[in-house]
Amino acid sequence: MKINSHYSALPAHYLFHDIDLRVQTYLSQHPDTRLLRMGIGDVTRPLPRVIVDAMQRAAEELAHEETFRGYCPENGYEWLRQTIIDHFFLPRGIPFHPDEVFISEGAGSDLGNLSDLFDRDNKVAIMDPTYPAYVDANIMAGREITLLPCLRENNFVPDLPAQPVDIIYLCFPNNPTGAVLTRDQLRLWVEYARRNHSLIIFDAAYEAHISSPDIPHSIYEIEGAREVAIEVHSFSKSAGFTSVRCGYVVVPFETGLQPLWMRRQCTKYNGTAYVSQRAAEATFTPEGQKGIRDNLCYYKNTASLILNGLREIGLEAYGGENAPYIWCRAPHGWNSWTFFDHLLNHCQVVSTPGVGFGRCGEGFVRFSAFANHPSAIEALHRIHAYLGLRP
Ligand code: MLT
Repeated sequence: MKINSHYSALPAHYLFHDIDLRVQTYLSQHPDTRLLRMGIGDVTRPLPRVIVDAMQRAAEELAHEETFRGYCPENGYEWLRQTIIDHFFLPRGIPFHPDEVFISEGAGSDLGNLSDLFDRDNKVAIMDPTYPAYVDANIMAGREITLLPCLRENNFVPDLPAQPVDIIYLCFPNNPTGAVLTRDQLRLWVEYARRNHSLIIFDAAYEAHISSPDIPHSIYEIEGAREVAIEVHSFSKSAGFTSVRCGYVVVPFETGLQPLWMRRQCTKYNGTAYVSQRAAEATFTPEGQKGIRDNLCYYKNTASLILNGLREIGLEAYGGENAPYIWCRAPHGWNSWTFFDHLLNHCQVVSTPGVGFGRCGEGFVRFSAFANHPSAIEALHRIHAYLGLRP
Protein backbone atom coordinates (compact mmCIF):
# COMPACT_ATOMS: atom_id res chain seq x y z
CA MET A 1 0.00 0.00 0.00
CA LYS A 2 1.01 3.62 -0.50
CA ILE A 3 -0.04 6.18 2.06
CA ASN A 4 -1.58 9.51 1.08
CA SER A 5 1.68 11.41 0.58
CA HIS A 6 -0.05 14.73 1.24
CA TYR A 7 -0.12 13.83 4.95
CA SER A 8 3.60 14.48 5.04
CA ALA A 9 2.84 18.18 4.39
CA LEU A 10 0.77 18.39 7.61
CA PRO A 11 2.24 19.60 10.91
CA ALA A 12 3.15 16.56 13.02
CA HIS A 13 0.34 17.20 15.53
CA TYR A 14 -3.03 18.89 15.39
CA LEU A 15 -2.76 22.23 17.21
CA PHE A 16 -4.85 21.38 20.27
CA HIS A 17 -3.19 17.99 20.62
CA ASP A 18 0.19 19.72 20.56
CA ILE A 19 -0.89 22.14 23.29
CA ASP A 20 -2.31 19.29 25.34
CA LEU A 21 1.05 17.49 25.19
CA ARG A 22 2.83 20.59 26.53
CA VAL A 23 0.25 21.04 29.27
CA GLN A 24 0.50 17.36 30.29
CA THR A 25 4.30 17.64 30.44
CA TYR A 26 4.00 20.74 32.64
CA LEU A 27 1.49 19.02 34.92
CA SER A 28 3.64 15.92 35.28
CA GLN A 29 6.46 18.18 36.53
CA HIS A 30 4.16 20.37 38.67
CA PRO A 31 1.41 18.01 39.83
CA ASP A 32 -0.04 20.39 42.44
CA THR A 33 -0.59 23.27 40.05
CA ARG A 34 -4.08 24.69 39.56
CA LEU A 35 -4.07 25.50 35.86
CA LEU A 36 -6.46 28.11 34.52
CA ARG A 37 -7.60 26.86 31.14
CA MET A 38 -8.34 29.46 28.51
CA GLY A 39 -6.95 27.52 25.58
CA ILE A 40 -9.32 25.37 23.53
CA GLY A 41 -12.78 26.83 23.03
CA ASP A 42 -14.52 24.21 25.14
CA VAL A 43 -17.65 25.13 27.08
CA THR A 44 -17.87 25.06 30.87
CA ARG A 45 -21.50 25.94 31.69
CA PRO A 46 -23.87 23.02 32.43
CA LEU A 47 -26.61 22.27 29.92
CA PRO A 48 -30.06 23.73 30.57
CA ARG A 49 -32.30 21.20 32.38
CA VAL A 50 -34.83 21.02 29.52
CA ILE A 51 -32.10 19.70 27.19
CA VAL A 52 -30.95 17.05 29.64
CA ASP A 53 -34.60 16.01 30.21
CA ALA A 54 -35.04 15.63 26.43
CA MET A 55 -31.97 13.38 26.27
CA GLN A 56 -33.21 11.28 29.19
CA ARG A 57 -36.62 10.85 27.55
CA ALA A 58 -34.96 9.93 24.26
CA ALA A 59 -32.72 7.38 25.98
CA GLU A 60 -35.73 5.90 27.79
CA GLU A 61 -37.57 5.49 24.47
CA LEU A 62 -34.78 3.23 23.31
CA ALA A 63 -35.49 0.87 26.22
CA HIS A 64 -39.01 0.01 25.01
CA GLU A 65 -40.09 -2.06 22.05
CA GLU A 66 -42.85 0.38 21.01
CA THR A 67 -40.54 3.40 20.96
CA PHE A 68 -37.19 1.83 20.11
CA ARG A 69 -35.38 3.25 17.03
CA GLY A 70 -32.60 1.92 14.85
CA TYR A 71 -30.51 3.89 12.35
CA CYS A 72 -31.37 7.57 12.08
CA PRO A 73 -31.67 9.11 8.60
CA GLU A 74 -28.22 10.05 7.24
CA ASN A 75 -29.27 13.69 6.87
CA GLY A 76 -31.05 13.83 10.24
CA TYR A 77 -34.69 13.60 11.30
CA GLU A 78 -37.00 15.89 9.37
CA TRP A 79 -38.54 17.20 12.63
CA LEU A 80 -35.14 18.64 13.60
CA ARG A 81 -34.34 20.02 10.16
CA GLN A 82 -37.73 21.74 10.02
CA THR A 83 -37.32 23.06 13.59
CA ILE A 84 -33.99 24.65 12.63
CA ILE A 85 -35.56 26.30 9.57
CA ASP A 86 -38.56 27.53 11.59
CA HIS A 87 -36.54 28.94 14.49
CA PHE A 88 -33.28 30.10 12.97
CA PHE A 89 -33.80 30.87 9.27
CA LEU A 90 -37.46 31.87 8.82
CA PRO A 91 -37.36 34.62 11.48
CA ARG A 92 -34.52 36.14 9.39
CA GLY A 93 -36.65 35.92 6.25
CA ILE A 94 -34.65 33.00 4.81
CA PRO A 95 -36.75 30.06 3.59
CA PHE A 96 -35.20 26.61 3.09
CA HIS A 97 -36.54 23.17 2.21
CA PRO A 98 -35.72 20.59 4.93
CA ASP A 99 -33.68 18.63 2.36
CA GLU A 100 -31.22 21.53 2.19
CA VAL A 101 -30.33 21.06 5.88
CA PHE A 102 -28.08 18.15 6.93
CA ILE A 103 -27.75 17.24 10.61
CA SER A 104 -24.32 16.04 11.67
CA GLU A 105 -22.21 15.19 14.69
CA GLY A 106 -20.73 18.70 14.67
CA ALA A 107 -19.26 21.50 12.60
CA GLY A 108 -15.65 20.33 13.00
CA SER A 109 -16.32 17.08 11.11
CA ASP A 110 -18.42 18.82 8.45
CA LEU A 111 -15.74 21.41 7.78
CA GLY A 112 -13.23 18.64 7.14
CA ASN A 113 -15.61 16.33 5.27
CA LEU A 114 -16.94 18.93 2.83
CA SER A 115 -13.57 18.73 1.12
CA ASP A 116 -14.74 15.35 -0.34
CA LEU A 117 -17.04 17.21 -2.74
CA PHE A 118 -14.33 19.01 -4.62
CA ASP A 119 -11.83 18.02 -7.23
CA ARG A 120 -8.19 18.25 -6.29
CA ASP A 121 -7.76 20.78 -9.06
CA ASN A 122 -9.42 23.68 -7.21
CA LYS A 123 -7.72 26.78 -5.89
CA VAL A 124 -8.69 27.27 -2.28
CA ALA A 125 -8.49 30.54 -0.34
CA ILE A 126 -8.28 30.38 3.46
CA MET A 127 -7.91 33.17 6.00
CA ASP A 128 -4.62 33.29 7.90
CA PRO A 129 -4.79 32.87 10.90
CA THR A 130 -7.56 30.29 10.73
CA TYR A 131 -9.20 27.28 12.35
CA PRO A 132 -6.64 24.59 11.41
CA ALA A 133 -9.14 22.03 10.08
CA TYR A 134 -9.77 23.95 6.82
CA VAL A 135 -6.09 23.98 5.95
CA ASP A 136 -5.48 20.41 7.10
CA ALA A 137 -8.41 19.00 5.10
CA ASN A 138 -7.21 20.70 1.92
CA ILE A 139 -3.61 19.68 2.47
CA MET A 140 -4.81 16.08 2.86
CA ALA A 141 -6.58 16.44 -0.49
CA GLY A 142 -3.46 17.91 -2.10
CA ARG A 143 -5.04 21.23 -3.11
CA GLU A 144 -3.31 24.51 -3.80
CA ILE A 145 -4.06 26.93 -0.96
CA THR A 146 -3.93 30.72 -1.12
CA LEU A 147 -3.72 32.30 2.31
CA LEU A 148 -5.57 35.55 2.95
CA PRO A 149 -3.67 37.54 5.60
CA CYS A 150 -5.72 38.87 8.51
CA LEU A 151 -3.56 41.39 10.32
CA ARG A 152 -3.88 44.40 12.60
CA GLU A 153 -3.43 46.51 9.45
CA ASN A 154 -6.69 45.22 7.92
CA ASN A 155 -8.56 44.83 11.23
CA PHE A 156 -8.20 41.05 10.78
CA VAL A 157 -10.59 41.17 7.81
CA PRO A 158 -9.01 39.70 4.66
CA ASP A 159 -8.86 41.50 1.34
CA LEU A 160 -10.55 39.84 -1.62
CA PRO A 161 -8.15 37.40 -3.35
CA ALA A 162 -5.92 39.11 -5.90
CA GLN A 163 -6.21 36.10 -8.27
CA PRO A 164 -9.47 34.18 -8.88
CA VAL A 165 -10.01 31.24 -6.53
CA ASP A 166 -12.59 28.46 -6.66
CA ILE A 167 -13.36 27.81 -3.00
CA ILE A 168 -13.20 30.30 -0.13
CA TYR A 169 -13.43 29.45 3.57
CA LEU A 170 -14.79 32.28 5.70
CA CYS A 171 -15.43 32.14 9.44
CA PHE A 172 -17.29 35.03 11.08
CA PRO A 173 -17.39 35.76 13.98
CA ASN A 174 -13.84 34.66 13.51
CA ASN A 175 -11.91 31.96 15.23
CA PRO A 176 -9.24 32.88 16.36
CA THR A 177 -9.21 36.71 16.05
CA GLY A 178 -12.80 37.43 17.13
CA ALA A 179 -13.21 39.75 14.12
CA VAL A 180 -16.65 40.17 12.52
CA LEU A 181 -17.98 41.31 9.14
CA THR A 182 -20.72 43.85 8.61
CA ARG A 183 -23.42 43.13 6.03
CA ASP A 184 -21.67 45.39 3.52
CA GLN A 185 -18.36 43.61 4.01
CA LEU A 186 -19.96 40.19 3.64
CA ARG A 187 -21.81 41.38 0.53
CA LEU A 188 -18.45 42.02 -1.16
CA TRP A 189 -17.54 38.35 -0.70
CA VAL A 190 -20.87 37.12 -2.06
CA GLU A 191 -20.47 39.41 -5.08
CA TYR A 192 -16.89 38.17 -5.55
CA ALA A 193 -18.06 34.54 -5.48
CA ARG A 194 -20.85 35.25 -7.97
CA ARG A 195 -18.50 37.07 -10.33
CA ASN A 196 -15.84 34.37 -10.18
CA HIS A 197 -18.13 31.30 -9.97
CA SER A 198 -16.51 30.41 -6.66
CA LEU A 199 -18.06 28.70 -3.67
CA ILE A 200 -17.93 30.10 -0.13
CA ILE A 201 -17.87 27.69 2.79
CA PHE A 202 -19.16 29.90 5.56
CA ASP A 203 -18.41 28.74 9.10
CA ALA A 204 -21.11 30.29 11.28
CA ALA A 205 -20.21 28.28 14.40
CA TYR A 206 -19.93 31.40 16.56
CA GLU A 207 -22.98 33.34 15.32
CA ALA A 208 -24.76 33.02 18.69
CA HIS A 209 -22.03 35.16 20.26
CA ILE A 210 -22.91 38.21 18.15
CA SER A 211 -24.19 41.14 20.21
CA SER A 212 -24.23 43.99 17.64
CA PRO A 213 -27.41 44.24 15.57
CA ASP A 214 -25.62 45.14 12.31
CA ILE A 215 -23.59 41.92 12.14
CA PRO A 216 -25.15 39.14 10.01
CA HIS A 217 -25.72 35.75 11.68
CA SER A 218 -25.93 33.90 8.38
CA ILE A 219 -24.43 34.48 4.94
CA TYR A 220 -27.93 33.90 3.53
CA GLU A 221 -28.91 37.29 4.93
CA ILE A 222 -27.04 38.57 1.86
CA GLU A 223 -28.96 38.50 -1.39
CA GLY A 224 -27.60 36.04 -3.92
CA ALA A 225 -25.72 33.94 -1.35
CA ARG A 226 -27.75 30.77 -1.81
CA GLU A 227 -26.20 30.17 -5.26
CA VAL A 228 -22.64 30.47 -3.96
CA ALA A 229 -22.50 29.45 -0.29
CA ILE A 230 -22.63 26.45 2.00
CA GLU A 231 -23.06 27.31 5.68
CA VAL A 232 -21.91 25.29 8.67
CA HIS A 233 -23.47 25.57 12.13
CA SER A 234 -22.64 24.10 15.50
CA PHE A 235 -24.69 23.44 18.62
CA SER A 236 -21.39 23.26 20.53
CA LYS A 237 -20.68 26.97 20.66
CA SER A 238 -24.32 28.08 20.77
CA ALA A 239 -25.79 25.51 23.16
CA GLY A 240 -22.80 23.89 24.87
CA PHE A 241 -22.90 20.57 22.95
CA THR A 242 -19.15 19.87 22.79
CA SER A 243 -19.77 16.48 24.43
CA VAL A 244 -23.31 15.86 23.12
CA ARG A 245 -22.21 16.40 19.48
CA CYS A 246 -24.59 17.96 16.99
CA GLY A 247 -24.28 20.48 14.18
CA TYR A 248 -25.70 21.04 10.72
CA VAL A 249 -24.76 22.12 7.22
CA VAL A 250 -26.97 24.05 4.83
CA VAL A 251 -26.42 23.10 1.20
CA PRO A 252 -28.88 25.13 -0.89
CA PHE A 253 -30.31 23.47 -4.02
CA GLU A 254 -29.05 26.47 -6.01
CA THR A 255 -25.40 25.49 -5.40
CA GLY A 256 -26.00 22.25 -7.31
CA LEU A 257 -24.18 20.44 -4.50
CA GLN A 258 -27.14 19.18 -2.44
CA PRO A 259 -27.42 15.79 -4.26
CA LEU A 260 -23.64 15.27 -3.98
CA TRP A 261 -23.57 15.97 -0.25
CA MET A 262 -26.55 13.64 0.26
CA ARG A 263 -24.73 10.98 -1.74
CA ARG A 264 -21.55 11.49 0.29
CA GLN A 265 -23.35 11.33 3.61
CA CYS A 266 -25.28 8.16 2.67
CA THR A 267 -22.00 6.40 1.92
CA LYS A 268 -19.80 7.74 4.68
CA TYR A 269 -22.10 8.76 7.52
CA ASN A 270 -24.68 6.71 9.40
CA GLY A 271 -26.54 9.54 11.06
CA THR A 272 -26.33 11.60 14.23
CA ALA A 273 -27.35 9.92 17.51
CA TYR A 274 -31.10 10.08 18.17
CA VAL A 275 -30.46 11.32 21.71
CA SER A 276 -28.34 14.21 20.39
CA GLN A 277 -30.98 15.18 17.84
CA ARG A 278 -33.66 15.30 20.56
CA ALA A 279 -31.28 17.44 22.63
CA ALA A 280 -30.80 19.80 19.66
CA GLU A 281 -34.56 20.02 19.19
CA ALA A 282 -34.96 20.98 22.87
CA THR A 283 -32.63 23.95 22.42
CA PHE A 284 -35.41 25.64 20.42
CA THR A 285 -38.10 25.32 23.15
CA PRO A 286 -38.76 28.51 25.16
CA GLU A 287 -36.97 27.05 28.22
CA GLY A 288 -34.13 25.83 26.02
CA GLN A 289 -33.75 29.27 24.46
CA LYS A 290 -33.75 30.93 27.87
CA GLY A 291 -31.14 28.52 29.26
CA ILE A 292 -28.92 29.00 26.23
CA ARG A 293 -29.28 32.77 26.38
CA ASP A 294 -28.27 32.75 30.05
CA ASN A 295 -25.16 30.70 29.28
CA LEU A 296 -24.26 32.88 26.29
CA CYS A 297 -24.67 35.95 28.47
CA TYR A 298 -22.26 34.40 30.99
CA TYR A 299 -19.66 33.78 28.27
CA LYS A 300 -20.16 37.25 26.80
CA ASN A 301 -19.52 38.78 30.22
CA THR A 302 -16.40 36.65 30.56
CA ALA A 303 -15.26 37.80 27.11
CA SER A 304 -15.59 41.50 27.96
CA LEU A 305 -13.94 40.88 31.33
CA ILE A 306 -10.93 39.30 29.59
CA LEU A 307 -10.78 41.91 26.81
CA ASN A 308 -10.96 44.85 29.22
CA GLY A 309 -8.71 43.17 31.79
CA LEU A 310 -5.95 42.56 29.24
CA ARG A 311 -6.21 46.13 27.99
CA GLU A 312 -6.06 47.46 31.56
CA ILE A 313 -2.89 45.45 32.12
CA GLY A 314 -1.49 47.30 29.11
CA LEU A 315 -1.71 44.51 26.56
CA GLU A 316 -3.02 44.97 23.04
CA ALA A 317 -6.19 42.89 22.71
CA TYR A 318 -8.87 42.45 20.03
CA GLY A 319 -12.11 40.52 19.46
CA GLY A 320 -14.22 39.49 22.44
CA GLU A 321 -17.17 41.77 21.60
CA ASN A 322 -19.09 39.57 19.17
CA ALA A 323 -17.03 36.44 19.65
CA PRO A 324 -15.85 34.20 22.50
CA TYR A 325 -12.19 34.70 21.59
CA ILE A 326 -9.76 37.45 22.57
CA TRP A 327 -6.73 37.90 20.35
CA CYS A 328 -3.85 39.30 22.38
CA ARG A 329 -0.54 40.61 21.10
CA ALA A 330 2.51 39.27 22.90
CA PRO A 331 4.43 41.93 24.84
CA HIS A 332 8.19 42.57 24.62
CA GLY A 333 8.31 41.39 20.99
CA TRP A 334 7.87 37.76 22.11
CA ASN A 335 6.63 35.25 19.60
CA SER A 336 3.46 33.25 20.17
CA TRP A 337 5.05 30.16 21.72
CA THR A 338 7.28 32.27 23.99
CA PHE A 339 4.25 34.15 25.31
CA PHE A 340 2.36 30.85 25.63
CA ASP A 341 5.26 29.37 27.64
CA HIS A 342 5.51 32.43 29.91
CA LEU A 343 1.78 32.23 30.59
CA LEU A 344 1.95 28.50 31.29
CA ASN A 345 5.16 28.43 33.33
CA HIS A 346 4.76 31.66 35.31
CA CYS A 347 1.00 32.25 35.48
CA GLN A 348 -0.26 28.66 35.10
CA VAL A 349 -2.63 29.97 32.44
CA VAL A 350 -3.29 27.94 29.29
CA SER A 351 -3.79 29.98 26.12
CA THR A 352 -3.50 29.07 22.45
CA PRO A 353 -0.45 30.33 20.53
CA GLY A 354 -1.58 32.42 17.57
CA VAL A 355 1.00 30.98 15.20
CA GLY A 356 -0.74 27.60 15.60
CA PHE A 357 -3.56 29.13 13.52
CA GLY A 358 -1.20 30.22 10.74
CA ARG A 359 1.86 32.29 10.05
CA CYS A 360 -0.06 35.57 10.32
CA GLY A 361 -1.00 34.62 13.88
CA GLU A 362 2.65 34.86 14.93
CA GLY A 363 3.15 37.24 17.86
CA PHE A 364 -0.35 36.66 19.28
CA VAL A 365 -2.07 34.27 21.65
CA ARG A 366 -5.78 33.52 21.83
CA PHE A 367 -7.77 33.44 25.08
CA SER A 368 -11.06 31.57 25.17
CA ALA A 369 -13.98 33.17 27.01
CA PHE A 370 -15.61 29.78 27.55
CA ALA A 371 -13.62 29.69 30.79
CA ASN A 372 -15.54 30.25 33.99
CA HIS A 373 -15.69 33.75 35.40
CA PRO A 374 -13.62 33.26 38.61
CA SER A 375 -10.87 31.53 36.59
CA ALA A 376 -10.76 34.43 34.14
CA ILE A 377 -10.49 36.95 37.01
CA GLU A 378 -7.71 34.96 38.64
CA ALA A 379 -5.90 34.53 35.32
CA LEU A 380 -5.92 38.31 34.80
CA HIS A 381 -4.52 38.83 38.33
CA ARG A 382 -1.76 36.31 37.71
CA ILE A 383 -0.88 37.80 34.30
CA HIS A 384 -0.84 41.30 35.76
CA ALA A 385 1.31 40.18 38.71
CA TYR A 386 3.78 38.49 36.39
CA LEU A 387 3.99 41.01 33.55
CA GLY A 388 3.35 44.07 35.68
CA LEU A 389 2.98 46.18 32.57
CA ARG A 390 0.62 48.81 33.88
CA PRO A 391 -0.94 49.27 37.33
C1 MLT B 1 -11.14 26.07 19.17
O1 MLT B 1 -10.70 26.19 20.31
O2 MLT B 1 -10.64 26.65 18.21
C2 MLT B 1 -12.31 25.18 18.96
O3 MLT B 1 -12.89 24.82 20.15
C3 MLT B 1 -11.91 23.96 18.27
C4 MLT B 1 -13.08 23.26 17.71
O4 MLT B 1 -14.19 23.78 17.68
O5 MLT B 1 -12.87 22.14 17.23
